[in-house]
Amino acid sequence: MNLVPAGRNVPVMTMTAPRPLAIHIGRDDLPFVDYGGGNMMKVLLIDEAESLWIVENIFKAGFETQTHRHTGPVFGYTVSGAWKYKEYDYVNRAGSFLYEPANSVHTLEILEDNTQVWFQMYGMNLNLREDGSVESVTDGAGTLGAYLHLAEKQGHGRPNVLVL
Ligand SMILES: [Fe+2]
Repeated sequence: MNLVPAGRNVPVMTMTAPRPLAIHIGRDDLPFVDYGGGNMMKVLLIDEAESLWIVENIFKAGFETQTHRHTGPVFGYTVSGAWKYKEYDYVNRAGSFLYEPANSVHTLEILEDNTQVWFQMYGMNLNLREDGSVESVTDGAGTLGAYLHLAEKQGHGRPNVLVL
């Protein structure tokens, strides 16, 4: 059945290339890189239009981040080990799911070796000084750049990160 009247000028959808329906990334398709002290990281996906970045980490006990504020929401899923934010009492362990709204402020602290966590983050991390002022910014594009650089330097070539 043709719903378009004959002779009518219909715009064609050529503004953007269609996105693929599904993309699978296997466990070993992207390497973990060491970004200091044996703490490992991979970047799974960057979507600049959504300001979205998805990373996976394998931390060592004792690792800490600088206190930071997220400009967008954060989702975290823990695969193994144990970690917490210094600001809260709860401990994330295997199977823990964590949601934090935009503007949350926290300081990540790793409690056990081989703590593997998957983070889905929107926006930027504003790394804060003790007085609360912003010292530096971490975002998806910068993290991807660091990941690609470290991967090449550590002999993994150029990982095929999903960039939308
Ligand atoms: Fe965070």
